[in-house]
Amino acid sequence: MLFAMKSFGNSNAGPTHLFTLRNQRGMVVDLTDFGATVVRLVVPDRHGVFSDVVLGFDEVEGYTRIPGPYFGATIGRSGNRIGHARFTLDGKTYTLPVNNTPGGLPCNLHGGPVGFDKVLWQAEAATASEASVRFSHRSHDGDQGFPGNLAVTVAFTVQEDNALRIDYEATTDQATPVNLTNHSYFNLGGEGARTILGHILTLNASRYTPVNAGLIPTGEFEAVADTPLDFRAPHTIGDRIERANEQLRFAGGYDHNFVLDGGGKSLALAATVLEPQSGRELEVLTTEPGVQFYSGNFLDGSPGKGGRPYDKRSGFCLETQHFPDSPNHPNFPSTILRPGQTYRSTTVYRFKTR
Ligand code: GLA
Repeated sequence: MLFAMKSFGNSNAGPTHLFTLRNQRGMVVDLTDFGATVVRLVVPDRHGVFSDVVLGFDEVEGYTRIPGPYFGATIGRSGNRIGHARFTLDGKTYTLPVNNTPGGLPCNLHGGPVGFDKVLWQAEAATASEASVRFSHRSHDGDQGFPGNLAVTVAFTVQEDNALRIDYEATTDQATPVNLTNHSYFNLGGEGARTILGHILTLNASRYTPVNAGLIPTGEFEAVADTPLDFRAPHTIGDRIERANEQLRFAGGYDHNFVLDGGGKSLALAATVLEPQSGRELEVLTTEPGVQFYSGNFLDGSPGKGGRPYDKRSGFCLETQHFPDSPNHPNFPSTILRPGQTYRSTTVYRFKTR
């Protein structure tokens, strides 16, 4: 067993722990059982200088705040937004807590105020030989308004190719939406560096799902061609972020679900991000059909690790998942898990240098 464990302080849910995973090349990932959260992710730059490239807090207390920025957390039962905090499944309408109101319009965000990011998970070594830890959680019938008892696990593995692999599984005893993701905010220049606007992003997505003023998908699929959302060829994140564009205006920057070309079948490359100064490059691979690219527009300078201020757009997220508000859009790939089925999803964040 390659991981080390220590206390990460007390939470309202009980004592929390920090688990450290390492590979032979010096990559280090710290995770806490509070929210099954990535706390620290240390990788080298092109000169072999190691830095922590994810935003977060030094103590568990920062992760317990509601609402929080969701730094590094496992998000569930249903990532991103459910419009009007309501959906109908098999003829029954379910009402969820409203915990977000962009543009004054109510929705359920990231599974509710006490989503999977705010619970204490059970931890165990995933295997004897790998740098790996598995967290498990039982979400009861009616939890945050969702139907069915859901058993969920998420395993994190640090691989020798400097990749963090995340494997999710879930089963249920009643039909329920399940859409899990990880909400890590990256800054490849090192957390605490000013902005991510100079990072160069490539997204393997020809289409995205446009949103209304409440950041809820309209249900349409739109081509990225001739829009500032076209990252099929590399662009800095900052290049076109201030363009006069309704979608950018609604979200205050990028905060959109991209429909991955050929996504949703097997593990495939979704995105590449290069930070030219350090030469650090991130590749995101996923089995999911979509990725929410969020440019950290709601970060407001509040302090994170070491008291460093995390300014607007000083971190970006690439949240691999099914499309937002799927339970209300029959034309989107289904997020409904039924008894007897097993939800499975894998995402790999791989780090390289150039
Ligand atoms: C997701 C959403 C954003 C924002 C962040 C958390 O990325 O799409 O609008 O709510 O989570 O701050």
